[in-house]
Amino acid sequence: MKNSKIIGGLKGRSLLRDIDLTKDQFMALLDLAEILRTEKKSDTEKKRLKGKNIAIIFEKSSTRTRSSFEVGGHDQGAHVTYMGPGDTHMGRQETIKDTARVLGRMFDGIEFRGFAHHDVELLAEFSGVPVWNGLTDEWHPTQLLADILTIRDHSSKPLERIALTYVGDARNNTANSLLCVGALLGMDIRIAAPLSLQPNEDVQLIAKRLAQHSDAKLSITENPHDAVAETDFIYTDVWVSMGEPTDSWAERIKLLLPYQVNEQLVHASKNPDVRFLHCLPALHNTDTEIGKELNKKYGVSALEVTEEVFESATSIVFDQAENRLHTIKAVMVATLAGA
Ligand code: CP
Ligand code: NVA
Repeated sequence: MKNSKIIGGLKGRSLLRDIDLTKDQFMALLDLAEILRTEKKSDTEKKRLKGKNIAIIFEKSSTRTRSSFEVGGHDQGAHVTYMGPGDTHMGRQETIKDTARVLGRMFDGIEFRGFAHHDVELLAEFSGVPVWNGLTDEWHPTQLLADILTIRDHSSKPLERIALTYVGDARNNTANSLLCVGALLGMDIRIAAPLSLQPNEDVQLIAKRLAQHSDAKLSITENPHDAVAETDFIYTDVWVSMGEPTDSWAERIKLLLPYQVNEQLVHASKNPDVRFLHCLPALHNTDTEIGKELNKKYGVSALEVTEEVFESATSIVFDQAENRLHTIKAVMVATLAGA
């Protein structure tokens, strides 16, 4: 593999924020993910993680991230132990520092999905083994690896010439990671969100600093129609993230309905090849409990994206979801095996 030196350099490392990686390291992980994807699809997968024990800890729900660590670990010959919300003593009856020191003596690598970002930092500091952030309130690093791989799969342009527009709640983990990764990789990143939901100053500062080195073009606006003009990709995420109070819905719906990804907004891109991305889960109809509840309470039949866009040929969200597996597997292989 042409990037084997870079991948070798990641052995023993944690992945807490995607921006702790260099651009070369980020791209090498995507190259490794492509190799692993090809191996899996051609039934020629080599087991690089034989004998490794992996813990995956979730303090919030998950479908894609959990499945990717479990299936990815098993595909590579590792043993994976799942610990769901409330399954461990961590943070309640035992300090994170103590739990980290125990788990580090038993496991070769630990995935953690939680609330405060500092928790995953503590786990990494005191476990002494690679720790992978499976989402915190602030960052969602493994998501962005899958997103950029999907963008690469669906565009013939170099990343530096790709425009990606994120609309909606731009203060959440996905938006923070997206703005900063786009800045790291030198992309044209546009954020459209109401003032109160635009990325906070710390995140903007990180992104601006990265952009100075990469020549990325960054813009933040309140106008979603301007932001999508000639864009290559439109990305959105839920309007209320896990862990936020459910009574945020009334205010978020009022603020964010103008930022809904609907046919009108897709059309405003004036790009017939524009593609729609979403990290999922998505509230695009009333077939879910929350969708039904919000429909009853606020009369909305879809939230951040309409059913028409979600189910259209523009939408590549299931390719994106599948790429979670290949990229998370690449992270485990690079940090535990180094190749
Ligand atoms: N995108 C994502 O992280 O999905 P899950 O919450 O299902 O893991
Ligand atoms: N922003 C969302 C992402 C879910 C994958 C949340 O934190 O709930």
